[in-house]
Amino acid sequence: MEKHNQSYLKSELKDFWNKQTCGTASITNEKFTKEYFEEIEKLRYDLQPEIFNFAQFTRYHGKRILEVGVGAGTDFIQWIRAGAECHGIDLTPESIEHVKKRLELYNLNAESLLVADAEELPFIDDYFDHVYSWGVIHHSPNTLKALDEIIRVLKPGGSAKIMIYNRHSLLAFFFWIKHALLKLKPWKSIAWVLWNHMESLGTKGYTIKEFETILSQKTQVQKFNVSTIYTYYDKLGRFPKIFQIVSKMITCFTGREKIGWFLTIEFQKTT
Ligand SMILES: C[S@@+](CC[C@H](N)C(=O)[O-])C[C@H]1O[C@@H](n2cnc3c(N)ncnc32)[C@H](O)[C@@H]1O
Repeated sequence: MEKHNQSYLKSELKDFWNKQTCGTASITNEKFTKEYFEEIEKLRYDLQPEIFNFAQFTRYHGKRILEVGVGAGTDFIQWIRAGAECHGIDLTPESIEHVKKRLELYNLNAESLLVADAEELPFIDDYFDHVYSWGVIHHSPNTLKALDEIIRVLKPGGSAKIMIYNRHSLLAFFFWIKHALLKLKPWKSIAWVLWNHMESLGTKGYTIKEFETILSQKTQVQKFNVSTIYTYYDKLGRFPKIFQIVSKMITCFTGREKIGWFLTIEFQKTT
């Protein structure tokens, strides 16, 4: 894998997501209209309905929540609608502008909404009841620093729910076929393919075991659970039926439990 320095990666990351806020690439309605945001929301939950089951927004009524990497704010407004005290950050001004416009349109309020870096959260220690982050910290050059920051800002006994990408997933394997095998570079690893071709430069994928080891070494973490969600992307939902059949056949051998693209992490900060 090429070595890039962290500040170069951070600026590439920021440029990438600032050019196109996550989940907006295929949206056809006029930017920042109600129809625009509703199209984003429909598409997101059509493709990733698992989010509701994982996040369980309505259980956090009255709690102080931080969402790290709000993107276009689709999950963020679910926390607000659920009656939580909501704080959100994202690295890009474009994302924060999306969420501000969205809140105005729906007459909703956030407690704070900031352009900020997950690796240096602008909050005091032991502050949040719950931290949520969906598809974010694997993009950040120092993912483990972002994890440490999440732990730091949680109250003792507070909980976190984080989704990152699973390197040992069907989608990652198909991605390797496309970007390594079919490009006649079969020696390139899945990690290399994700780093160079999955969204922003420097994207990482982790395995269940790797993240279990990471969490087991954190003295401030207890009761953790790392698992995967088998997604629309693993099923090759966007591809012709024949590819979907191949994907389904592979799962006859592998099962679905451990090979999903979304690696979900839940834990509690020690009391
Ligand atoms: C794949 S999008 C996910 C956004 C949103 N959570 C969602 O699910 O739609 C990744 C987002 O993470 C943000 N991000 C990446 N690294 C970050 C960091 N170090 N600090 C804050 N935000 C970051 C990007 O700006 C982008 O908005």
